[in-house]
Amino acid sequence: MRLSLSSSGLKNWDGDVLVVGLLKEESEPHRAELSERFPGLEAVLEQQAFQAKPSDQVVLHPLQEGGPSRLIVLGLGEAAALSLDGLRAAAARAAKASIGCSGSLGLLLPWGDLEAEAVAQATAEAVLLASYKDQRFRKDPEPRRVPEALELLGLPEQAASGLTPVAANCAGVDLARQLVAAPPNVVTPAALADTAAELARDYGLELTVLERADCEARGMGAFLAVSQGSDLPPKFLHLIYRPAGEVKRRLALVGKGLTFDSGGYNLKVGAAQIDMMKFDMGGSAAVLGAMRSIAERKPEGVEVHMIVASCENMVNGSAVHPGDIVTAADGTTIEINNTDAEGRLTLADALLYACEQQPDAVVDLATLTGACVIALGDEMAGLWSNDDDLATALDTAAGTAGEGLWRMPLRKSYKDGLKSLLADTKNTGPRPGGSITAALFLQEFVASGTAWAHIDIAGPVWSDKGRGLDPAGATGYGVRTLVNWVCQQAA
Ligand code: BES
Ligand code: MN
Ligand code: ZN
Repeated sequence: MRLSLSSSGLKNWDGDVLVVGLLKEESEPHRAELSERFPGLEAVLEQQAFQAKPSDQVVLHPLQEGGPSRLIVLGLGEAAALSLDGLRAAAARAAKASIGCSGSLGLLLPWGDLEAEAVAQATAEAVLLASYKDQRFRKDPEPRRVPEALELLGLPEQAASGLTPVAANCAGVDLARQLVAAPPNVVTPAALADTAAELARDYGLELTVLERADCEARGMGAFLAVSQGSDLPPKFLHLIYRPAGEVKRRLALVGKGLTFDSGGYNLKVGAAQIDMMKFDMGGSAAVLGAMRSIAERKPEGVEVHMIVASCENMVNGSAVHPGDIVTAADGTTIEINNTDAEGRLTLADALLYACEQQPDAVVDLATLTGACVIALGDEMAGLWSNDDDLATALDTAAGTAGEGLWRMPLRKSYKDGLKSLLADTKNTGPRPGGSITAALFLQEFVASGTAWAHIDIAGPVWSDKGRGLDPAGATGYGVRTLVNWVCQQAA
């Protein structure tokens, strides 16, 4: 989709689909002009009981000579409640309402005291992301028309710079969505390695793939234990973005990459949603997507290391037994009292490797626990961090992206729940506070003194019904938060 600001006003814009957002009466800046251009509109709004509530939406086909073929009027509620998130939601509604139209989509939204550049970026991203549809797995994809161009009306010229990162950001989100949505017989550990190789080739990144033997040589016994019940070989990926000039900050992004999580011998039964466990590589999809956006945007001053320990958690004659004791790359022994707490085992070796790169900060993303979904629902990821500045920076980055994120505690005493009679630690604590003990387990494998944050995306990785800019299915959650954060570090 081509993106631009339009300098024409409501009176003379001559594209194909026009979307206008209206605030509740008194403060409404565009209504008079709109009614003037489209005589008869007021009568329709009245007849449809349009009150400019955020749920109000009226679609018209004006059929005027030279005018747009579709006019969509959206309610935006009270001026005082206007927010970037509200505008994002409105832009997403605009995109959905313009499906079936070709040509150009004109979008005129009030923006109050919000920053024009941020408004341009947020609304353009919302239009692009809400227009996404995945038809890769259909025999006969439906022919589908969407506008080829987006023109933002009513914004000052300086807002144009907000459009610069939009295509790159959305390409990263699209990549993550495609990876998460694809079934586990398509997105295998080898397929994730291929994706990383494609990024390396397309953008000149550096890729190292550790095969099973390499991981063995490095003593990655926790990661390898998870993979040993699968017929598919594990792949350990390390992808590096190096900036053109001097490196001021080195960052590591670690993603959980379970291309399928059956639970292992602690098999997922009952309500455990085994059929959805293709999304257990959502963390790796987010970091791969972020690497794509970063490689396209080329921030200065930051070197970014992406690390993914990818495998499947399956059952066969050589799978891990519940009760096995394995050894991570730093020598820590782990009693696997539950084979379904596998993500943290793979992340243990991935975090140890990440810390070897001596980063200034490490952030891991993982569909780690059902407990986090119980705690926060599916609109927010949980955030744990040993560093307040890092937590604040991530919170800001998520806020700018409109992605829900909520800080959770690393309560030390809960570590008692991981005590093992025989080994240094168990991998699983009691059910209460399950997302917290998972985070505490990960912390054990982070070098002391390294700023680290863990983001549990088990809830927002997938949306059953779709919401806002997310169509039903894979959301690509985390990509824009990570990209915002990395680009902020560059500044
Ligand atoms: N991949 C799951 C977490 C998950 C569960 C994500 C449901 C999304 C929805 C993870 O590997 C897992 O199975 N965690 C267990 C941990 C438990 C055994 C301590 C869980 O959450 O039940
Ligand atoms: Mn599991
Ligand atoms: Zn899992």
